Amino acid sequence: MHHFEYRDGSLFAEEVSATKLAEEYGTPLYIYSAATFRRHFQAFDSAFKGLDHLTCFSVKANSNLSVLRMLGEEGAGMDIVSGGELYRALRAGIDPGKIVYSGVGKRESEIREALEARILMFNIESVAELHKINAVAEEMGTVAKVSFRINPDVDAKTHPYISTGMAKNKFGLDIEHSLEAYKQAVELKNIDPVGMDCHIGSQLTSIDPFLEALDKLLNFYEKLKDIGVDIKYLDLGGGLGIPYDEEEPPHPTEFGQALVEKLKALPLKIILEPGRVIAGNAGIMITEVVYTKSNPMKNFLIVDGAMNDLVRPSLYGSYHRIDEVEKNGRETDIFDVVGPICESSDFLARDRELPKMEQGERLVVFSAGAYGFTMASNYNTRPRACELIVDGDKVLVARKRETYEDLIENEI
Ligand code: LLP
Repeated sequence: MHHFEYRDGSLFAEEVSATKLAEEYGTPLYIYSAATFRRHFQAFDSAFKGLDHLTCFSVKANSNLSVLRMLGEEGAGMDIVSGGELYRALRAGIDPGKIVYSGVGKRESEIREALEARILMFNIESVAELHKINAVAEEMGTVAKVSFRINPDVDAKTHPYISTGMAKNKFGLDIEHSLEAYKQAVELKNIDPVGMDCHIGSQLTSIDPFLEALDKLLNFYEKLKDIGVDIKYLDLGGGLGIPYDEEEPPHPTEFGQALVEKLKALPLKIILEPGRVIAGNAGIMITEVVYTKSNPMKNFLIVDGAMNDLVRPSLYGSYHRIDEVEKNGRETDIFDVVGPICESSDFLARDRELPKMEQGERLVVFSAGAYGFTMASNYNTRPRACELIVDGDKVLVARKRETYEDLIENEI
């Protein structure tokens, strides 16, 4: 459920007309719905109310400061993967005691920053990282709380680029070597192994791979107890999918129930790291038709939003629903919706049935709230889009559109 809807054929973000916003702020334009963000967070979080748990929003999905602040006010912690994300989370006022830090390549400076901030814990992805964190913590005279990210070798059945829990993936430690890693960790003076972690992939549309991974982790938990390692946290990562097209992912309540069932008897605090399921359908991108053209094979709608603004279709072949901002019941045809960038991979949709639109009219790209703006670039020296948050009838410019000056600011 989201709060982008048509009223008499005209698209609204909560109480505000999308056309009015596009006229005022220009295109391409990201629009987020505050009510949708809050609702998604609460729906997800309350699905786990039977458990001692902490929901850490995955900052990479949508890193806008105002979005992070809004979710923080709802009670969210944050899952971060870089010093930059730590900086954002802290600037957004997130309690460092609710921040978990994942990622395969944490640099020394980033580890130091996280220790200084006193984050809840590191999700360690290699034995080498364990020793690095121990060394930095020793130098700082502190103890780092850690989990190991265990790679359970489970097929998440999602796009190969966003599947992370198989043996061939770079993530985590294989389950065989994880026990040895915990044995080393307990010997290290500046490390406190407090948890276990896994994240098997993103945009999962079935609960089964989650349960398969969980069973492997719970099995491993028993082994940990056998060697006397007493952990307090179990982090199950993110990954729950959303409907972009015809997918029917489980509702967060169903997902929660399945996990609560397996976990309620355990003395563990559960950490969850949802990103897409909170942010994906809480955002749209508006783009304007610059030109139309046809050749003997194709009809093109050339729009001002490009792969630098929303790379998911180009990178993963992802589907995003596209529609008119103002519906006026015209005939349809089959179009490629393409951007102005000099690459054939610059498209938002291919062979899509759409109304025969004209120059100057606008399209909406749905489900753009997660991995939309955060993956944007300046390719072709294109300023990045403006991000708005609509809250009822109020509009907040959460990020100004970049200017040409911004683009060269750090260059000589
Ligand atoms: N935790 C960890 C350690 C992760 O790596 C990720 C996502 C998440 C949580 C959040 O997963 P989510 O709940 O959003 O599925 N750019 C891709 C998605 C990459 C996901 C990377 N990791 C896309 O646009 O589909």
